[in-house]
Amino acid sequence: MNHARTRLVMGNWKMHGSLADNAALLGGLVAGAQRAGSAQLAVCVPFPYLAQARQALSGSTVSWGAQDISVHDRGAYTGEVSAAMLADFEVSWVLCGHSERRAMHGESSALVAAKAAAALGAGLTPVVCVGETLSDRDAGDAECVIGDQLEPVLALGAESLSRLVIAYEPVWAIGTGRTATPEQAQAVHAFIRAALTRHGAAQTRILYGGSVKAANASDLFAQPDIDGALVGGASLVAEEFLNIAAAAA
Ligand code: 13P
Repeated sequence: MNHARTRLVMGNWKMHGSLADNAALLGGLVAGAQRAGSAQLAVCVPFPYLAQARQALSGSTVSWGAQDISVHDRGAYTGEVSAAMLADFEVSWVLCGHSERRAMHGESSALVAAKAAAALGAGLTPVVCVGETLSDRDAGDAECVIGDQLEPVLALGAESLSRLVIAYEPVWAIGTGRTATPEQAQAVHAFIRAALTRHGAAQTRILYGGSVKAANASDLFAQPDIDGALVGGASLVAEEFLNIAAAAA
């Protein structure tokens, strides 16, 4: 299928990994990276492993990213990691506003947009995550919730929007084994695409996330507004992750 936007398959390791496990996983990805074809392949690793990812992936077609970023440049912010620090490790991507951070760390949509702006300022590509809970969906509020989450990001303007990625991750599909159907995902992606288009950024990529695995990836990627995947659990197994990448190729 002719797909104008370059596909992106990104792993989010969350709080998983060890030096030994990562070495095997990263080695497996480098060895099989050609299976992604023209799709981009990336992994977002815990902060302590950025140096390891950089060493293992430099010179390969697999890029690396972080899972969070501070809005501050420097200073008395214990535990925070700045955009410049991430840039020091040649990080390409940074997740902003993953639902686990919104839910467990109280990150507001305004803060998430500020994080995206901080990333852009250092030349990193933010991957801004949005998504509704099951109760939002059951109440018929999915688009309203996602629209509110997007609003401060859209306000960054067309130039910024053209340099970031949106990830739609319905909270009810994350780690549950319950994927949105391709039609459910496409409907939300089309809604997000329309919002981006109104703000002059029709070509911004929109990833789907939530229980993506090799078995369901092809049907998701066949949807016109799904430009790739943000993969949790299945990104921890090289063969499974590469099978998803092959589906995007
Ligand atoms: P799972 O693929 O494990 O459902 O996680 C999705 C996710 O949250 C990726 O950011």
